[in-house]
Amino acid sequence: KAQTTASLTVSGKSDHQISRHIYGHFSEHLGHCIYGGFWVDSSLNVPKKDRIRLDVVDALKKIHIPNLRWPGGCFADEYHWRDGIGKRSDRPKMVNTNWGGVTEDNSFGTHEFMELCELLHTEPYISANVGSGTVEEMSKWVEYFNFDGTSPMSKLRAENGHPAPWKVGFWGVGNESWGCGGNMTPEFYAGQFRRYATYARDYPGARLKKMASGASDFDYHWTEVCMKEIPLHMMWGLSLHYYTIPGDWGHKGSATKFDEKEYFTTMRKCLLMDTLVTKHSAVMDKYDPKKSVALAVDEWGIWTDVEPGTNPGFLYQQNSLRDALIAASTLNIFNNHSDRVRLANLAQTVNVLQSLILTDKEKLLLTPTYYVFDLFQVHMDAAYLPIQLNSPSYTNGNESIPAVNASASKDSTGAVHISFVNLDPAKKITVTANLKDVQWKTVSGQVLSSGKYTDINTFENPNKVKTATFNGAKKQGNDLVVELPATSVVVVTLK
Ligand code: AHR
Repeated sequence: KAQTTASLTVSGKSDHQISRHIYGHFSEHLGHCIYGGFWVDSSLNVPKKDRIRLDVVDALKKIHIPNLRWPGGCFADEYHWRDGIGKRSDRPKMVNTNWGGVTEDNSFGTHEFMELCELLHTEPYISANVGSGTVEEMSKWVEYFNFDGTSPMSKLRAENGHPAPWKVGFWGVGNESWGCGGNMTPEFYAGQFRRYATYARDYPGARLKKMASGASDFDYHWTEVCMKEIPLHMMWGLSLHYYTIPGDWGHKGSATKFDEKEYFTTMRKCLLMDTLVTKHSAVMDKYDPKKSVALAVDEWGIWTDVEPGTNPGFLYQQNSLRDALIAASTLNIFNNHSDRVRLANLAQTVNVLQSLILTDKEKLLLTPTYYVFDLFQVHMDAAYLPIQLNSPSYTNGNESIPAVNASASKDSTGAVHISFVNLDPAKKITVTANLKDVQWKTVSGQVLSSGKYTDINTFENPNKVKTATFNGAKKQGNDLVVELPATSVVVVTLK
């Protein structure tokens, strides 16, 4: 008979915080993420500030998104920021060659993005053009954003209605420079990073946190060369991109119609994030044993086939309970590697890939993934608590993965939060947690689950998958006993 119990040890001793920036998001000029998602037609009958959709903003404010990456993605390396400032009717148009070949009217540019970030109370993370832009162009964009004084760029910013600098810290120096960002070799990119980063200046009160464009998936060589060739003090972070693809790039698989074999494969691939982060970190440790450079997983999430009948270049996909389990498992992995992983961005917020929000004209729905970010907020900037977990296996055919994953933290009030995921679609699993050095009296919790892993929220039935109060946790001595429902995410709070 398969084992249905797990044991967990949580240490009360923490040596670092979980950066809130692990809970970051990504919004590219792609499909209906910016246009038709955040930035809508003036005629759309929804609350708006200028053309920014406020119901989208309100939903994201509730989960306190810590940073938003923009304008790409692949789009960033073809984007020329000067086309997106000044009077809108005078802005030049361009072709979005990466995403559907549609015309980009540049109505959403620097000022509009900063307005959005201010409404969201989130930190901007700008991805600058290295692939087809110049050193001067990036340098001037930094000056435009950040310089507080008399200069050509601060004058231009004031003429465009914003005399005060924004003082933006996070800057990506190129995106996927091994591919859509210029097809560079790692050696060539490392040299380019040094040039671009030199002239991206720190202005008073605006110290830059520069991100080198890092590896894809298992390309440890790219990480090695960047760590070897780029002086550590020039980089705040080095990125990593990894997408969970149920099938392969040719046939990725449906977002809503899949059997247990495909569900299992998807979860197995999702859990590879742990191997990736461990191995890229080990390469970084060779050059940076003190972990001064962050590993920034600034693109992650599930990537499926688009919904039938939608533009293949727009990457519009539905979002199921499976995706919520992916989000929660990945966030647990990041928490457990938060000594090195200090920033991450799920791709991509609204209407693209693993979205938090889907919109259809005036209608809006929150996806199962949204609820995971809501539940996991408790870990943001909390003290990381090391764990040891013994999980039963979830087996399909002759392959097995751990059924349960978890992470734990202690917030500034002293409350301890443990997030659990049970990936097994058929079995409840009882976890007994030994809480070393943790004093607590009461436990409460919330659960996200649904009848089937294919369950989704639709515009007709938007509340099919959502969080509920969890009553399956109890105190036994100083141990915590939690009964995890099949395919569920549970977050408990101990006080
Ligand atoms: O998120 C979609 C695309 O995936 C991004 O534009 C690119 O960076 C990555 O390949």
